[in-house]
Amino acid sequence: MLFNQFSRTAEAAAALRAWGAMTPQGRAVFHDPHALRLTSRRWRARLKNSAQRKLLMDGLLRWMHPIAAQVLTRSHHAELHLKTAVAGGVGQYVIVGAGLDSFYWRRPAWARSLAVFEVDHPATQAMKRARCAASALLGEPWWVTADFERESVADALRRSSFDAGQPAFFAWLGVTHYLKPAATRATLAALAEVAAAGSALVFDYSVPPSQITLNDWPLAAGLGVLTAALGEPLVGGLKPDALAAWAAETGWIVMDDLAGPPAGELRLPQLTRLAHWRRA
Ligand SMILES: C[S@@+](CC[C@H](N)C(=O)[O-])C[C@H]1O[C@@H](n2cnc3c(N)ncnc32)[C@H](O)[C@@H]1O
Repeated sequence: MLFNQFSRTAEAAAALRAWGAMTPQGRAVFHDPHALRLTSRRWRARLKNSAQRKLLMDGLLRWMHPIAAQVLTRSHHAELHLKTAVAGGVGQYVIVGAGLDSFYWRRPAWARSLAVFEVDHPATQAMKRARCAASALLGEPWWVTADFERESVADALRRSSFDAGQPAFFAWLGVTHYLKPAATRATLAALAEVAAAGSALVFDYSVPPSQITLNDWPLAAGLGVLTAALGEPLVGGLKPDALAAWAAETGWIVMDDLAGPPAGELRLPQLTRLAHWRRA
């Protein structure tokens, strides 16, 4: 992403969650009632006006429905795994590249029982903090800034009250697509450095162009053009077997790596995968 610019794809992901919250199929997968107020003013205006929403989401951006399904599904799955981790005694939740994720305000009782850390690019986090204040969202997670292309997320977490001696659950959603593979590998290794035994990680990643099915090529092309126009080109294609090798090298165990977890009635594209790892 551009050095000084907050993430426009974070606003787009929140807009897709906001739109999901307005449709029965979307709500059935993941319901985020705070997404609308956290996204940009422009997205908010378009989504709130039913005629504009229809024109945009059922017309111009209809091709993005599978991406919306993916955005909703990844959040749903991360929070399912979080629930299991918490039942197993994990008390720290680290949302890596949090964007406009609303967990802390959407699930207040749950969030207050955990130490919640949001790690993000400084420009995106500053934008989010301003929006939370403007939306009168009460309470705050621990804020931690890091640019994953330039610094170690472990060093960033060590600057906070994160306790590397206690297990944690890490969610890293919608980020690796925009990082060069070397930065993704470095971040996986850095997370392992601060992940005590019993920790787990859920993240999604894009497969390389050679593994995209013909059916999904138009979607991949559209998404590539859109994210590049937003200043966040897709540079992170990774092969599942290469990633499994990285897991072993960096101290993680692959629990599962799914192409298309069930998303109710929504069709999921096969452009991305969802991985669940545990600390070795
Ligand atoms: C598409 S958004 C996803 C946000 C959120 N996890 C979600 O699921 O909606 C991409 C996120 O990656 C973060 N990001 C991208 N490149 C980054 C970098 N080099 N360092 C830190 N964060 C980065 C952006 O700030 C943004 O929050």
